[in-house]
Amino acid sequence: MSELDLPEVLAIDRAGLIDGLASSVETFDQARAGAEALDIPFSPDVVKDVLICGMGGSAIAGDLVTTLYYERLRRPVQVHRGYYLPGWAGADTLHLLLSYSGETEETLTAAMQALERESPALGVTSGGKIESWYGEHGVPVLKIPGGLQPRMALLHMLVPTVVFMSRLGIIPEQTADLDAARDAIGAAIDAYGPDRPTEANTAKQLALRLADGVPLIYGSEVTAGIANRWKCQFNENAKQPSFHAILPELNHNEIVGFEQAGAFGDMARVVILKDPRQHRQIERRIALTREIIKPGVADIITLEGEGDTPLARLMDLVILGDYVSLYAACLRRVDPEPVDSIGTLKQGLATTGNQRLQAGESGSI
Ligand code: PA5
Repeated sequence: MSELDLPEVLAIDRAGLIDGLASSVETFDQARAGAEALDIPFSPDVVKDVLICGMGGSAIAGDLVTTLYYERLRRPVQVHRGYYLPGWAGADTLHLLLSYSGETEETLTAAMQALERESPALGVTSGGKIESWYGEHGVPVLKIPGGLQPRMALLHMLVPTVVFMSRLGIIPEQTADLDAARDAIGAAIDAYGPDRPTEANTAKQLALRLADGVPLIYGSEVTAGIANRWKCQFNENAKQPSFHAILPELNHNEIVGFEQAGAFGDMARVVILKDPRQHRQIERRIALTREIIKPGVADIITLEGEGDTPLARLMDLVILGDYVSLYAACLRRVDPEPVDSIGTLKQGLATTGNQRLQAGESGSI
């Protein structure tokens, strides 16, 4: 028994984000059905490459998909965060616009440029200008339910991204993998949900180890997107500094920093996300990395997702990370729902004014 088994400790989650995860299987079904039914009015043959455009809690779906399928991608796919589209993106580049609100400045700027370049495009949003502009230009938009925090709408972005990429032949056909992923979500909710007591609940145990430090989340090529998701969930849910880095790259720089980590080392809690599909050298690198950084960090935890397919293991680890960060919020006595700093920043940008965007004006930016 720990404090995470006490309803009064979990009650700081006023908006019920923890309870909301319990409906993830239904969300998965809804997202899958919507994406399978959407009419895609262009042939897969016109798509030579793909840009997944978005920011923050929406863009993360792009990271998860591109890293999960990296060595199985049949065409180049890049996640685009920011204002300027790359010069190579043109009339044969599919622009997949992910924006929960449909109002995110950088994503709208990308959307305008995609229209100007007459690129094939698809949108996923709960509304806003993405819905209205794209509606006016005949671009298919998958409308998803509103009223959520973008990061808690992950399945509404992730599942359609997988379905669209599968339908367009950019990744292998995913029907069986999606079925297995659905099962993994149900199992993860059962294993990590609030009703399961701490002694049998990995998510609560991890939260107790991570809530008072700085989680450093390490992935490899195939788990890089999950590592970023965990980091962002600690930031936004637990209001906690957290960072991520990727193997093998971190073996060429980050490990040296722990030689003289000082007081930061006392805060550093390293979480390494493994997968059986990772390159065999990654296993060896993880063992060596653990040994080398051990004197400079407070804790090192290695985790692997449960499941028989890559997508199922991804879902297991993503849901585990969601619960861990939400429980960490409760331990830190912060309401996980509000993200005041993001709101303040967006408000500041709105008042300083990007007039052309607000007018929905096209033309070069
Ligand atoms: O988690 C968040 O609230 C943010 O990271 C948002 O997702 C980000 O600001 C982009 O907004 P949207 O997802 O509405 O496009």
